[in-house]
Formats: sequence, structure tokens, C-alpha cells
Amino acid sequence: MMRRGVTVWFTGLSGAGKTTISKAVEQELRSQGYLVEVLDGDIVRQNLTKGLGFSKEDRDENIRRIGFVAHLLTRNGVIVLVSAISPYREIRQEVKSKIGDFIEVFVNAPLDVCEKRDVKGLYKKARLGEIKHFTGIDDPYEVPINPDVECHTDIETEAESVAKVWQKLQAFGYLD
Ligand code: PPS
Ligand code: MG
Repeated sequence: MMRRGVTVWFTGLSGAGKTTISKAVEQELRSQGYLVEVLDGDIVRQNLTKGLGFSKEDRDENIRRIGFVAHLLTRNGVIVLVSAISPYREIRQEVKSKIGDFIEVFVNAPLDVCEKRDVKGLYKKARLGEIKHFTGIDDPYEVPINPDVECHTDIETEAESVAKVWQKLQAFGYLD
């Protein structure tokens, strides 16, 4: 019997911790023998969605393509971990409806915290106007209204965030 697949969708600002948490969840799942794939915006934009920019149209196209692949994997029993800013509520909802087996994780850190972290130096560039349409600076982020999981990465540890995601996977019946 095939195990039920699911897409765990991490949405949040740049630097909120989407990649970090999804990689940690991936590691734990893999070590326990689950089929798992990660689709990370930063990586996917170098291949599957190469050439797309950060206009609303391009972001929505990016999310639609990621959602398409996530759906294929999910229906074949894979646990898919998507980490993409995915700033627009409507397209997140569209992808969720298509996939069905879907857990929305809001990786929520306040903008000022993300900006202080500035892991890639992108916020600095955005403030200087060297990058336009940067999420949270001069481009929108529509917060999830009713996420399945919310990780407050400014006040909880990585392990606590991972545990929240794990508990939800368990509660929804996707783990043994
Ligand atoms: S989206 O909105 O979901 O299509 O974005 P995503 O595919 O997740 O790509 C976000 C990563 O691209 C880098 N980057 C930017 N982010 C936001 N706005 C602008 N203008 C931008 N330009 C480049 C950045 O490294 C994002 O990675 P994360 O991991 O979110 O920090
Ligand atoms: Mg990232």
C-alpha cells in the first residue's frame, strides 16, 4: 500500500526561515525513511522557473509551476516541502485547492527581524533601491489568514518550528 503524499507549503518573507525549517524537516523525514522532495524558490528559479522575475505575473507563474510539480509528486506518495515567498493569497489558495493534500505553514518573522538578519544582503540592496519590487520593502506580502501551522522564528527555536510542522503532519495522518 502506498503512503499518502502531501505538500507542505512554507510561505513567508525573505529571511524568515523557510529554507532552514524545510531542510530540517526534510532531513528528519528522510532519516525515518519517508519519500521526500524539496522545492525551494531560490533553487527552482535556476531551472524550472528560470527567466521569471518578481512582478506579480511572474511570481504567480513561478508558484503555479512549483504547484504543478508538487501536485505530481504528492499524488505519487511523496512528502513535498515547498519553500517560496508566495506572497499572493489567491495563488496560494489555487494551488492548495488543486493539490488537496496540503499543509500551509506561515513562517512568520517580523520584517525588521528579517531585515536585521539580512542573510543575503538583499534587504540592504532593496533599501538602497538597487533591487526593486523586494517583498516587504516595496512589494506586497499578503499574510495567510488561516495557516495550518505558524512558526514564529523570532521567538522560537528551529527545533520548535520543526516540531510544530511534524505534529501537524502527524495529526493530519501523513506519518506512520
Ligand atoms: S516568489 O515570490 O514566491 O515567487 O519568490 P521565490 O521563488 O520564493 O524567490 C525568492 C528568493 O529570490 C530572492 N529574491 C527576491 N525575493 C523577493 N523579492 C525580490 N525582489 C527578490 N529578488 C531576489 C531571494 O533570495 C528569495 O529567497 P528567500 O529564500 O525567500 O530569501
Ligand atoms: Mg530561502
